[in-house]
Amino acid sequence: MTEERAMDDFRTVIEPFRIHAVEPVALTTREERAGWLRDVGYNLFSLPARDVLIDLLTDSGTGAMSRDQWAAIQHGDESYAGSPSWFAFESAVKDLFGFRHVIPTHQGRAAEKILFTVTGGEGRVIPNNTHFDTTRANLEASGAEGVDLVIPEGRDPSNRHPFKGNMDIAALESLLEARGGDVPLVMVTITNNSGGGQPVSLENLRAVRALCDQYSKPLFLDACRFAENAWFIHEREAGQSHREVADIVREIASLADGMTMSAKKDPLCNIGGWLACNDDELAQSFRNLLILIEGFPTYGGLAGRDLEAIAQGLTEAVSHDYLRYRIRSTAYLGEALEHLGVPVVVPIGGHAVYIDARRLLPHIDPMAYPGQSVAVALYEIGGVRSCEIGTVMFGRQPDGSEQPAAMDLVRLAIPRRTYTQSHIDYVIEVCERLAKEASTLRGYRIVSQPAQLRHFTATFEPIG
Ligand code: F0G
Repeated sequence: MTEERAMDDFRTVIEPFRIHAVEPVALTTREERAGWLRDVGYNLFSLPARDVLIDLLTDSGTGAMSRDQWAAIQHGDESYAGSPSWFAFESAVKDLFGFRHVIPTHQGRAAEKILFTVTGGEGRVIPNNTHFDTTRANLEASGAEGVDLVIPEGRDPSNRHPFKGNMDIAALESLLEARGGDVPLVMVTITNNSGGGQPVSLENLRAVRALCDQYSKPLFLDACRFAENAWFIHEREAGQSHREVADIVREIASLADGMTMSAKKDPLCNIGGWLACNDDELAQSFRNLLILIEGFPTYGGLAGRDLEAIAQGLTEAVSHDYLRYRIRSTAYLGEALEHLGVPVVVPIGGHAVYIDARRLLPHIDPMAYPGQSVAVALYEIGGVRSCEIGTVMFGRQPDGSEQPAAMDLVRLAIPRRTYTQSHIDYVIEVCERLAKEASTLRGYRIVSQPAQLRHFTATFEPIG
């Protein structure tokens, strides 16, 4: 058991690090930003990052590496086969997750591509609490069907269930009963990114494991935010508060047969990922494909120096001081927004705060993209870049028609160890101004859009 330190007695969310190298950020005027928004057709993905003051577009690959990670990079050995950096990486991954086979990839979606090319295909159905968009896209590209079976509380932005990422066990059992023969594997995403960064409990994972045993199905974790999930278990689940997070992670992994991973999230790296499993035959098929599309099995899609940075990052990711700060600082932003009356998904998730734009802008019809309106306004008001997760992202149907998404959210994702409390206080002030201006904000219409994944490149214009 680690000694629990008393930081929580103070209001200030103290960053458990000092700044060692600084990156300048752009101070710009509202008029400049309004002009740039017009220039890029109100699509925040098209803005040059140099014109963004606080970039909350994603927590993926945007974190700050530590002194020890930069030092580890100097140990990077670029041997094609059997590099010492590979052994450092493999041993760090096995220490936490314990799977027999570890297969490095350049990022998470490459692991997904390999997993589903081998296990997916026409007629297959793959359940998850909620598939992340690249996970769904990769399994659908194989011809398989993805099914989201998160508990009903997980679909309600204002429900305060402590483990809103949990799998609906009864729904999973019905699926396995009805279509068991079509299910190659069961997945659980920790934390549930698409559902608000919400955690899954150990109890729920054990119940999923029991069903997988009953129906002889392998269980794979999409474990991008495993450490944040384990911290929530440490904080919220009965009987877990005395445990080391690393031990909780080991137990989570022991309940699964394999995992996909993006090292751009909790492992605190700017690139990287892996696929892991216990089954020898499956691993052989994964490696055959890996060699075609990523690289030799001892480096996969990565340089030796990336493997070193991941090995070191994994030891930092499970530090209690770091995780306490990480989860507390995300909650700090969320609680401040709640206090201002800005509707947000609760409880606050691990890596992001999600503004409920449909509730904030009731005068804007979902088909006029209230989420886009909030995201554009946050940039225009204060140079803060966020991400619409709503009707722009999900509204278009396969037949080309359009309907409102289930929710119109705007995600403020917090890069790891990157912004200080004063940056976040500034974001809170920008949101305060957003709330004041809310009734004057306008909806948007789409001017041009590609056939697929339109949110990345569509252009917009304000209505009226
Ligand atoms: N699974 C989850 C739950 C994710 O959040 C992501 C990426 C991936 C898989 C894919 O990993 O980016 O390394 O290929 N999420 C990022 C985000 C892009 O902004 O939430 P990747």
